[in-house]
Parts: sequence; structure tokens; C-alpha cells
Amino acid sequence: MNVLLLGASGRIGQRIANELLERGHEVTGVSRSGEIDDADFKAVAGDATDPAKIAELAEGHDAVASALGPSGGEGVEIVPEMAEALIEGLRQTDVDRFVWTGGAGGLNVGPDTQVVETDEFPDELVPLAEAHIDAWEVIREVDDLQWSYIAPPAQIEPGERTGEYRTAEGQLVASEDGESYISMEDFAVAFVDELENSDEIHTQLAVGY
Ligand SMILES: NC(=O)c1ccc[n+]([C@@H]2O[C@H](COP(=O)([O-])OP(=O)(O)OC[C@H]3O[C@@H](n4cnc5c(N)ncnc54)[C@H](OP(=O)(O)O)[C@@H]3O)[C@@H](O)[C@H]2O)c1
Repeated sequence: MNVLLLGASGRIGQRIANELLERGHEVTGVSRSGEIDDADFKAVAGDATDPAKIAELAEGHDAVASALGPSGGEGVEIVPEMAEALIEGLRQTDVDRFVWTGGAGGLNVGPDTQVVETDEFPDELVPLAEAHIDAWEVIREVDDLQWSYIAPPAQIEPGERTGEYRTAEGQLVASEDGESYISMEDFAVAFVDELENSDEIHTQLAVGY
């Protein structure tokens, strides 16, 4: 596939780029500066809050992958803003497939409880979690584009690529002892599996070990 990767300079985006390249896909990686150290793919500049720029960059690709996040000191409200811009931008193109990296805060841990509502959830991360929930609310309403929303577990860090992971629709993935974790490398495996296979269109797919 020929993939436009938004957030290619980020921690998760770099791992998604590596996973895509390992599987023989072509990657155009977007960041604001367009300069990504040691990139093995075509790096381009683009502001992901600008629908016209997204449309211009996306045209001609098979799909758009997003690992966007508020990395530049801007407010967390940029997260739903970028989701809206991506949707508006893709509607101006022939590209109708995107896979989005979301947040764990909006996943459920019980029938009526979201992760962000639990006592263990760190206070300082509540605004970011709520911004991800706002982005999810934007994306879930979309039925004219083929999207998948991939949500990390509670913890995600650089680590090993094992190729193993579990998934659950809308529910936090945790081990029997309650640990909710995945390496960024295995998150990238799950992300690219979904991009390639499109098994979970219009789904909030949680991943973890
Ligand atoms: N447990 C969880 O729920 C959990 C844990 C970790 C991460 N996440 C989420 O996963 C996503 C990725 O995380 P990460 O740690 O990889 O983030 P990161 O390292 O901060 O990377 C964010 C990426 O977004 C890009 N970006 C930001 N604003 C942009 C704009 N206006 N235009 C174009 N690109 C823009 C950055 O590019 P430049 O700055 O180079 O332009 C960078 O590539 C984030 O949304 C994060 O909140 C969730």
C-alpha cells in the first residue's frame, strides 16, 4: 500500500513507519517541519489542522495512518481539531480509508465506567484523555469514510516487537493481574494489521497484551 502517515516524527508514528516499511509498504511521513531524522521514507511538511493541506497530501495514497498528538506545546484540544481536519480533508479526495491512534481514557473497564473515570487515572492526564474522547466522538459519527480507531492500553512504551497482542472492542485490554500494557512496536504491529486487513472498520479497537 501507499500510505500517508500523519505524526511520522512521533514516538508511535516512527514505529508505525518502521512496521509499514518492513512489510514493503510505501510511506510518505508528515510532520510540521517536514524534517524527520534518519527517516527511511519520504518526509514532507504539513499542518494536520489544515483540511486543504491534508487533502493535497493524501491524494494518490491508498490510506492515511494517524499517530497525531499534541507534541508542540499546544493545547490538547488540537486532538479533536486534527480529527476533524483529517475527515474534512479526506472528503475532498478519493481516499476513503484511515486508521487513527486514539487514547485509552475513553475505553470501558466495566459496563458503565470509562478508564478516565477510575480512581487510578492520573489527574494530570484527564484533559488529554477528554480530548481523545472528543476526537472519538467526532470520528464515530463518520459513515462515509472507512475508519478504524485503534486505542492503546493504559501504558505504552518503547520496547520489544513480539508480534503478539490481544484486542477488544471498546474495552481496555488488561492482563489477569490487571496490567494494561503494550510496547509501541507491538502497537504498530496491531495498527498495521488493521490497516492491511480492514477487519474492524467503524470500530474502536483496543489493543494490549
Ligand atoms: N495510553 C494512551 O491513551 C496513550 C499513550 C500514549 C500515546 N497516546 C496517544 O497516541 C498518540 C501518539 O502518541 P506519541 O507519544 O507518539 O506522540 P508524539 O511523540 O508527541 O507525536 C505526535 C506527532 O503528532 C505530530 N503533530 C502534532 N501536531 C501536528 C500538526 N499540527 N500538524 C502535523 N503534525 C502534528 C507531531 O509532529 P511534529 O511535532 O514533528 O510536527 C508528531 O509526529 C497521541 O495522540 C497520544 O496522546 C495515547
